[in-house]
Amino acid sequence: MPNSIKNIVVVGQGAIGLLWYHHLSQQAEKYQVSLLASNQNLLSPSELISANYHFTPYQHKTAAPYPLNYCQDKNLQQAELVILCLKSYQIAKALKGLAHSINKDCIVILAHNGMGTTEEAAIMLPEKQTIIAMLTTHGCLRTGSLTIVHTGIGQSDIGLLSGQLSKSRQEQLTNLLSQALPDVSFHRNIVEKQWLKLAINCVINPITAINDIDNGDINHQEFSAQITQLLSEICEVANAVGVELELEYLQGLVTKVAKATAKNCSSMRCDIIADKPTEIDYINGYIHRLGQQYGIATPQNTKLWQQVFALSTTAKQQ
Ligand code: PAF
Repeated sequence: MPNSIKNIVVVGQGAIGLLWYHHLSQQAEKYQVSLLASNQNLLSPSELISANYHFTPYQHKTAAPYPLNYCQDKNLQQAELVILCLKSYQIAKALKGLAHSINKDCIVILAHNGMGTTEEAAIMLPEKQTIIAMLTTHGCLRTGSLTIVHTGIGQSDIGLLSGQLSKSRQEQLTNLLSQALPDVSFHRNIVEKQWLKLAINCVINPITAINDIDNGDINHQEFSAQITQLLSEICEVANAVGVELELEYLQGLVTKVAKATAKNCSSMRCDIIADKPTEIDYINGYIHRLGQQYGIATPQNTKLWQQVFALSTTAKQQ
């Protein structure tokens, strides 16, 4: 395994992709960073070398332009770290495209909502490839193409999903990410953290999308029975796969996150409004599939999965 990380590729020109790209590229003296965007093949050579993105730091009023270094084949081949900041339904296709270019020692980070992509990544990448999950609570809004605003200071949790990571490599990776965009913590049991995030997303995302409401509104009494049923099903499915979750803890967590993000439009509601595909297959759809696999009825998760699927006209065409 190489000793130091000198070449980083961020995949995805969405809000979180640009947020990481921006903060990593401020450390240019330590390593080289490039951005792999899904539309860069459409750009002319002059557009590729003269591109800028615009970033507004947290609590600042104005955006400043920064040069954008688009990823070339050699950047991918040399990369010791690739961070995929994509929607969950884009991961499999992106990994298929990257698998032949990246080094077997390259660390691959998956940063997205929902679960179920680890299984897909295992098919696309060599068995020994080191795959890390990243969960982030930073608020970031994409206000235009290559234009983002850092709307909320959060933190990120990372942990090993497959492959190996020595203690020193783990510290090196955590420090590198934390120095760029603090705080980043490494967890030995990231799967448990993923389940907590999944439970939050299984409740807030579909309910806000279906009812066209802000996150805080899910704390109204009218949704409490539905939320309890969703979370009970999630606890049962999680326990079947060996993850201990407690209903009361999850209820408190969902209430807290809805309160903390009360005025926000959830990512799923934003996707529905923008007529884009949603991550529902990797959120309530994931619970539905696991329920079927383990013979556990998940009527409320299944219902919301189908309702959101029907709401999204783009998803209907997939
Ligand atoms: O997907 C989202 O929007 C977010 O993960 C969350 C936590 C629901 C807050 O908006």
